[in-house]
Amino acid sequence: MYLRPIHPRDLDLLFTWLNDPEAIAPQDHFEFESFREMEGALREAETDDSSLAPRLLVVRRAGNRPIGVVGFFRSNRALETFDVWYVIAVRQERGKGYGSEAVSLLVDYLFAHRPVERVGATSDVENPSSYRTLERLGFRKEGVLKRALFHHGTWHDVAVYGITREEWFQPSPSRDPVPARS
Ligand SMILES: CC(C)(COP(=O)(O)OP(=O)(O)OC[C@H]1O[C@@H](n2cnc3c(N)ncnc32)[C@H](O)[C@@H]1OP(=O)(O)O)[C@@H](O)C(=O)NCCC(=O)NCCS
Repeated sequence: MYLRPIHPRDLDLLFTWLNDPEAIAPQDHFEFESFREMEGALREAETDDSSLAPRLLVVRRAGNRPIGVVGFFRSNRALETFDVWYVIAVRQERGKGYGSEAVSLLVDYLFAHRPVERVGATSDVENPSSYRTLERLGFRKEGVLKRALFHHGTWHDVAVYGITREEWFQPSPSRDPVPARS
């Protein structure tokens, strides 16, 4: 698979995914009330590093078929670090290694194009597919934010993960190469 920018022709699919509770994480809520609002958010994201908007599509080389979407954002205005988020929206394509590969490419991209020494991510402690993706790539658990996320009628704890530039570029048997299992 590969990551590529979002084109105007992808917007219908993206809007469908972002409004489909089956396609995104159970705790995610993208607050796009209309197609137009989503378009505006994508446009603003081009000049706003803190935007949570989707940034790149995850595309399977076979048929050049989009299967997911990833984002990155400057998570704290006082700090020089970016967080990543990731979704394999086509459910049949989950559990085949594409999520790990997508995050791996995204971290490569950020370390190549942003002058940061750390990339981070957060994961609901009850979302193993998310935190296992991070752990498999060598992210370290840095702590837990207690009761930081509200969804499904209750408060959830959120784990904070991070990896430094130095750690990322060390050889790692669990990461290199990330196998796609289909
Ligand atoms: C999180 C997500 C992107 C992972 O992508 P994926 O392609 O399914 O994951 P991979 O096949 O690369 O597997 C990564 C790790 O997660 C584990 N995993 C995958 N699905 C799992 C599941 N349902 N339950 C437990 N572990 C799971 C894999 O076993 C693997 O860990 P391992 O190397 O220790 O075996 C995908 O499951 C998804 O889109 N989920 C919904 C959205 C979401 O939760 N996003 C994260 C919040 S930003």
